[in-house]
Amino acid sequence: MADASVTFTLNGTTVAPIAPTGERLSASLRSRLGALDVKVGCNAGDCGACTVLVAGAPVCACLTLVHQMAGKAVETLAGLMAHDPMTRRLADSFQDHHAAQCGICTPGMLVAATALLRATPAPTEQQVQDALGGVLCRCTGYRGIIDAVVALGHGWQAMPETGPVGARVRRLDGWAKVAGLERFGDDLAPADALMVQVIRSPHPHASFTLGDLEGFLAAHPGLSAVLTAKDVPGRNAFGVIPAYADQPVFAEQTALYRGDAVAAVVGTAEAMARFDPATFPVEWHPMPAVQSLAEALAPDAPRLHPTRAGNVMCGGLVVRGQAETALARADLVATGRFATGFVEHAYIEPEAGFAEVIDGVVEITACTQAPGMDRASMAEILGCDPAQVRIIPSAVGGGFGSKLDLSVQPFLALAALKTGKPVRMAYGRTESMQATTKRHPSDITMQIGATRDGALCGMVLTGIFNTGAYASWGPTVATRVPVHGSGPYRIADYRATSRAIHSHNPPSGAFRGFGVPQVAIAQESLFDDLAIRLGIDRLEFRIANALGNGDATVCGQVFASGVGIKACLEALKPAWAAALAEVASFNAMGGTLRRGVGVAAGWYGCGNTSMPNPSTITCGIRADGTLVLHQGAVDIGQGANTVIAQIFAQALGVPVAALTLVGGDTAITPDAGKTSASRQTFVSGNAALAAGAALRAQVLRHSNAADDAVLLFGAGKITATDSAGPHVLDLSRFTPSAGYVLQATQTYDPPTRPLDAYGQGAPYAQYGYAAQMALVEVDIQTGQTRALRFVAAHDVGRAINPGLVEGQIQGGIAMGIGMALMEEYLPGRTENLHDYLIPTIGDVPPITTIIIEEPDEHGPYGAKGLGEHALIPTAPALLNAIRHATGIVVTSVPVTPARLRHALTEAGYD
Ligand code: FES
Repeated sequence: MADASVTFTLNGTTVAPIAPTGERLSASLRSRLGALDVKVGCNAGDCGACTVLVAGAPVCACLTLVHQMAGKAVETLAGLMAHDPMTRRLADSFQDHHAAQCGICTPGMLVAATALLRATPAPTEQQVQDALGGVLCRCTGYRGIIDAVVALGHGWQAMPETGPVGARVRRLDGWAKVAGLERFGDDLAPADALMVQVIRSPHPHASFTLGDLEGFLAAHPGLSAVLTAKDVPGRNAFGVIPAYADQPVFAEQTALYRGDAVAAVVGTAEAMARFDPATFPVEWHPMPAVQSLAEALAPDAPRLHPTRAGNVMCGGLVVRGQAETALARADLVATGRFATGFVEHAYIEPEAGFAEVIDGVVEITACTQAPGMDRASMAEILGCDPAQVRIIPSAVGGGFGSKLDLSVQPFLALAALKTGKPVRMAYGRTESMQATTKRHPSDITMQIGATRDGALCGMVLTGIFNTGAYASWGPTVATRVPVHGSGPYRIADYRATSRAIHSHNPPSGAFRGFGVPQVAIAQESLFDDLAIRLGIDRLEFRIANALGNGDATVCGQVFASGVGIKACLEALKPAWAAALAEVASFNAMGGTLRRGVGVAAGWYGCGNTSMPNPSTITCGIRADGTLVLHQGAVDIGQGANTVIAQIFAQALGVPVAALTLVGGDTAITPDAGKTSASRQTFVSGNAALAAGAALRAQVLRHSNAADDAVLLFGAGKITATDSAGPHVLDLSRFTPSAGYVLQATQTYDPPTRPLDAYGQGAPYAQYGYAAQMALVEVDIQTGQTRALRFVAAHDVGRAINPGLVEGQIQGGIAMGIGMALMEEYLPGRTENLHDYLIPTIGDVPPITTIIIEEPDEHGPYGAKGLGEHALIPTAPALLNAIRHATGIVVTSVPVTPARLRHALTEAGYD
């Protein structure tokens, strides 16, 4: 297409970019006009991240051609923040309401909300939902966003920006998110960087032959290199669990899933824009594929990995007491078989980054949840010392587990090494959904017994999980499921087995809960079965069987304190009673709408299962008095930058606003471990607490001040004031080392004990607990289920920042709604955000959050992890509510309208 110029105003300034006709406005804004506050999540008008105002109206810049802008006024978030005081107030309200978590959707949300507020200064909740319905958010659950916009028109006053542990302070990194200044994986590459595109298998199982690559390069001016397995200098295999590392950077001879990488092409931006992947010289030879669990387990199924017989990658086992004997003596036994499908993480930021080689070190800047693990894996792939690899995490636009695995990093590193130039890449939405990990589909069979008085009496669980083509986090899921399968309840006699099965699908990996949300559906559904058959109130049944302090878990672990599940369940009682009465009177009116209320609980062991799990935190004071916290726990939106800083600041005895944060750059910040398994508040928080205390001890010692002295940091000095008066510490008397005059480094590793052959031991130092109540309305004519409200009680030990706690719970519930009612990833069929549906702002109802604080013995200030258990009870609570409304027992998710309507018809509904 020919280039042509177009003149319009961008944020009040006349611009005249020259661009190919047909170029998207989003591309011109970002690549030609430097408007990096415009984010791209799908390039298909599905996510709304690129929303800008054109002549005052919100549009998706990815669906708008730049040449259509001639003579028009285009406004992006950066311009609105510069010129519209109302947008600036809205941005403050977003911060106060924790309406931005990862922040990738935030520019689009703020732009769309600005258009609404210009027309309707005091909108209702419904008006906000209507106006923002085209912008997707995967993190927040939307409730904070709705509150932030509504509040602006209803007398909102800005909140304090700082406070101690327990205070609802703003995110320390919040301003960059609401101002459009945050820089994600695709925002940081040098302008002249070459571009990389991966060639992927279009078949779930195929052998392939590469053609004349040199001839291909010669025929395509502007292309610099082709990368294949031959270009991997080290080990052409990676994986998050070293013993199972089996995923090639580039497949050799055979591709094992649709999306498996076989080669990559590197070239200038112009050449890559012209490049058609269909012209790449590769010949495919499709082979029989096994994609379902039944197919993969068939005796004659092709084996994906030669050493894994029967396609079984690994398994897990927990045995306590005599489960079968207990079931035999139970007064009744509930039995069920439950299935869940692939679930896509659907973060709004597709994987992206850039790399360059500087002084012999490969520097990779990319979105990641695990810079330390990335560096170790990349050193293996490159066959070099880890010191020759530097990982610099960009801001992360959502991760939820999938960005624990390598994605763009190997391709970037190999391309940078081969070309000697900076290289960049960003997955498209479809590529992201084809190539990256998913939640494990499951097939779970369970039996639970109870005595007539409502006491649990035996449980047997068998779970098989579809782990896809490569290992990823499959071993972790196989281990976690038997440990958590009982839920947070007393079950003396228990047997749980799990197996992870390979298939020709994308690798199943880590996704908020590691298999626990799937098994919770089975267990909590059967609990309703038992309670209903026993004639016991469903909430009371759970309270009566809930774990307490001093009770043994199914692993034989006993916590003397901090077991908060009973408090969570009891906190739901008033809402439960009110909802039951409300539902009864609503349903008594008849009609095609039925309401129901459901309850479910969950627990989650924080950190690695029975494995070392250390975090290290470093802090230092510069000669000028600047206080620096090297905070290597990657904040993917959950708030680690703020929570860990709050803990550190409290331990040191300074306001959190006094800190300067340095992120997880592997060259300058020690490894705080991966952001996963709800471990950062707990594990890195403890390391931060210890580091703060250690630095405080140094300051007090050098100042000759008492333990209770109040510290005040000033220019080149610290004043420690105790009962004897002020003691001034002149920082110029110290010789700086590595930039710091005083420094402390501390490591924390949770105390766990390995599991024995029967799964007995102490797998986690702490668990988090949760109970949720869902109220739903089902249209029995269409099968449509609408969640009307949630009440969520979560034991977080100590809420370091209640605003962030609420944000995690609301976001987790939104994901649970998606898992229960709409989300189903089907390879080759739902690889974009219009065929794969995630909850929109209209799908998440009001959520009442009840924060329970049962202090944990090991947690920093008593705090427990939260990220995973925010989601675990949601789907089963919804399914139990659907059963209450209709009598239909749902055993397979998602329960789409078509599926529920089918079940209703089978059950005799008209
Ligand atoms: Fe909305 Fe992350 S904050 S997608």
